[in-house]
Amino acid sequence: MDRILIRGGNRLSGKIPVSGAKNAALTLMPCALLTDEPLTLRNLPRLADVDSFGHLLNELGASTAIEGTRPTDFGRVMTVRAGKLTSTVAPYDIVRKMRASILVLGPLLGRAGEATVSLPGGCAIGNRPIDLHLKALEAMGAEIEIAAGYVKASAPGGRLKGGRFSFPVVSVGATENALMAAVTCKGTTVLDNAAREPEIVDLCNLLVAMGAQISGIGTERLEIEGVDRLHGATYAVMPDRIEAGSYACAAAITGGDVELVGAEANDMRATLDALVQAGVTVEETKGGIRVAANGPLKPLTLSTAPFPGFATDMQAQFMAMQLVAEGASVFTETIFENRYMHVPELARMGAHIDVRGRTAVVHGPTRLVGAQVMATDLRASMSLILAGLAAEGETQVNRVYHLDRGYERLEEKLQAVGADIERVGDG
Ligand code: UD1
Repeated sequence: MDRILIRGGNRLSGKIPVSGAKNAALTLMPCALLTDEPLTLRNLPRLADVDSFGHLLNELGASTAIEGTRPTDFGRVMTVRAGKLTSTVAPYDIVRKMRASILVLGPLLGRAGEATVSLPGGCAIGNRPIDLHLKALEAMGAEIEIAAGYVKASAPGGRLKGGRFSFPVVSVGATENALMAAVTCKGTTVLDNAAREPEIVDLCNLLVAMGAQISGIGTERLEIEGVDRLHGATYAVMPDRIEAGSYACAAAITGGDVELVGAEANDMRATLDALVQAGVTVEETKGGIRVAANGPLKPLTLSTAPFPGFATDMQAQFMAMQLVAEGASVFTETIFENRYMHVPELARMGAHIDVRGRTAVVHGPTRLVGAQVMATDLRASMSLILAGLAAEGETQVNRVYHLDRGYERLEEKLQAVGADIERVGDG
């Protein structure tokens, strides 16, 4: 199994290209199931999760073709053709590896009037239910049954009628599934307290490009007028705000100066505000965002929240960054119940972090020392990479497959700005 070795202490300087967003890609790809015409997605990141989603689409009868991209390019162009579906079943073996597989539920119901999707089960960051996905679909007329670990959903008469649903908790995935099911309903659907994450806006923009009628895009009330059919489209995946934010933390923790090329500041204001509060210089440039750190970082108090609040997907990286800040930082995780799995691993590198329930207090500044550490989930892995970049000596991050799910060519991007980092196989 591959490992990543980092010899810390180098100041990062230069440009890092930002890839297409993983979380957007994983909700744009299932839209291909909604039409018998081709859907071409540009700027699709090269990631294990994107490959897995491609396999899931193949399983359902869609073809996927990578076009016109060289192995040295960042990003790819993929055309998905779902002329005819051969199955409406998302099997356990695929869903258990990638929770986002649940996002075929809405589009399969919309296209075929039925879907059978394995329940995803728990994951490293806690019990992640899908009750809101199902309730929203039921509100649109779906009949749902759970048996033998699978959700079986069907649309009476082959087509959902549409309806109203107010989410009791903001859910990105449930909003996405509801949207994808709503666009081809017989009637109108109104979703209240919908998620407003930029990836939801990206999804709405693609659906509109395919012929959907959606109003309220970017707000917490989405109104969807069902249409009879959707057509194909060519669409570029938005830049990855979490990847960009992660590399911003890399610049900050190493006292570096990095331009995040292609990053979109409006998608990541809370992250940029937190960097500024920590004493980091943030500047919008023609090509993206420049992040530069001079002098010690200041402590922060951060609480995760749905967009436009501070993203839970940035919590672990900021925690690593705050290890070197002058004073105590306080983190509160409000979205997931078990998202401090990186804390014991950071402690192996010298971190002093107290966790009480949903709150973690990081006592900085820390003299970080390289160690062997183990990645537990995607963003937790990135926090270990960040700590390794600032630590004295060598850090070895094991279980790199977590990183490959969400960071396109991490070591190449970091090497190019001066990090001493390499991937080694067991070989
Ligand atoms: C998505 C992102 C993930 C991010 C998260 C929150 C993808 C592929 N993943 O995950 O990276 O960390 O948004 O920004 O886009 N909940 C329920 N019932 C449900 C659904 C969710 O109670 O049916 C709860 C969850 O347990 C959690 C909260 O709602 O506490 C938010 O989860 P949600 O926004 O749905 O996260 P995901 O879509 O799974």
